[in-house]
Amino acid sequence: MKKRIAVLASGRGSNFQAVIDAIQSGKIPAECAALITDNPKAYAIERAKKAAIPVRIIDYATFPSREVYEKALLSSMQELDVDLYILAGYMRILGAGIVRSFPGKMMNIHPALLPSFTGLHAQRQAVDYGVKVSGCTVHFVDESLDGGPIILQHAVPVIEGDDEDSLANRILEYEHVCFPEAIRLFCEDRLEIVGRHVRVR
Ligand code: GRF
Repeated sequence: MKKRIAVLASGRGSNFQAVIDAIQSGKIPAECAALITDNPKAYAIERAKKAAIPVRIIDYATFPSREVYEKALLSSMQELDVDLYILAGYMRILGAGIVRSFPGKMMNIHPALLPSFTGLHAQRQAVDYGVKVSGCTVHFVDESLDGGPIILQHAVPVIEGDDEDSLANRILEYEHVCFPEAIRLFCEDRLEIVGRHVRVR
């Protein structure tokens, strides 16, 4: 049976687009039930509209506190009741209450080879550190920052003269491959979490 997924995104949504394309071409056996965004100006909203995906705007700026915002987000996510929640450039750290509500049902993409360079500006961190290889990581979300069990990684060379943008663009190309691939594996029931490890069946 087809899985139901929901995507959380805060910005341009190129990873969201890669997921939409993979669903439409039949690569991912899923239906996208909603885009949830905290940013009413996110370009991801246009992408959802073009693909006839319902949009839920939960505008962070209109809430009196993070707690109240997260309460609204949690109830929206619970109401959707999907098989998988996808963080595709969702730029807020989710509180433990939300993460604990959906164990093994939330995936994130991070633009570095975890556990290196967690948090914001991972590509800049990689350039500044001087690593020769970076890449992207798709992982399940747990309560740690970018620290959940790893599903897929892809390495990308760091080339002399790279800056944050050039490296980000090189990595992004592979994000658009790895994220749909990991989601496909999930939707085919081929991922099993065993402690820190994700087995691909
Ligand atoms: C990507 O680099 C992703 O790895 C990171 O945020 C960026 C989102 O880009 N988490 P986009 O909105 O999917 O284009």
